[in-house]
Amino acid sequence: MLIPTGQLLQKATAGGYAIGAFNVYTLEGATAVVTAAEELQSPVMLQVLPSALKIGGRPLVALCHALAKDATVPVAVHLDHCSSQVLTVKAMIWGVSSVMADGSELPFEQNIQFTQYVSEIARGLGAGVEAELGRLSGEEDGIAVHQREALLTSPEQAEEFVEQTGVDALAVCIGNVHGHYRRTPELDFVRLEKIRQRVDVPLVLHGTSGLPDELIDKAITHGICKFNVNTELRRACLKATEACFNEAQTGQQPELTRIMEESVRAMKEVVSEKIKLFRSAEMT
Ligand code: 13P
Repeated sequence: MLIPTGQLLQKATAGGYAIGAFNVYTLEGATAVVTAAEELQSPVMLQVLPSALKIGGRPLVALCHALAKDATVPVAVHLDHCSSQVLTVKAMIWGVSSVMADGSELPFEQNIQFTQYVSEIARGLGAGVEAELGRLSGEEDGIAVHQREALLTSPEQAEEFVEQTGVDALAVCIGNVHGHYRRTPELDFVRLEKIRQRVDVPLVLHGTSGLPDELIDKAITHGICKFNVNTELRRACLKATEACFNEAQTGQQPELTRIMEESVRAMKEVVSEKIKLFRSAEMT
């Protein structure tokens, strides 16, 4: 069943678990997420990036929508990391349950204005809004500590930002990075605790791929109720596809349906593993 994002996140916060928000690009990815969630009786989120939406457009949202509607578990559909006002509005009209208005590259005041604009339209269209404060990329873990500090979410600014923008969820930067962790990940739980004390909307952690189990567990205990997962799913899909090519007879190509089946299986494994770590199994 298709459920508003806010409802999923509020319930997770109250229940002491987190929702897995998995980036999907195709039918295979979305099927893997929903079938894993159904098997484990877990609520879940399907999320698409603007890069995928530029290719898939409305049909990609419709595909996620259809799978969500038919699912036996609660599913929300989300637009991830969007810095384009036009695309966020389009995606909401196409039916996503929520959007991430990503103004994190902008100076604080401009990020507030950008997010206020998206929030106002989202309210009119009945969609939820997630925003990010601080900056997170795939590169931050290779830089000096004082530079890294400047990119982390300030608890004081978080309070002001949420008050001024009325967002429904806030993505925090506490040492998490997208993609590859070049060294052992360290999350600033003291900072997370301070943010939690000042902000009462659900908190989100991006960059979950590669985070050790104990950090995920601790993050939930400290108030994270949505984890974004992309890289591990993509890798599983590509590895499964590569294996299909490798096992094909010399001079032959694998069946496309075999690649579809194998990539669903591989991505489903990743999703199931994460759902268990997020404590959301049996939480429907
Ligand atoms: P990973 O690619 O590190 O899992 O991060 C995903 C993410 O945060 C998408 O918004």
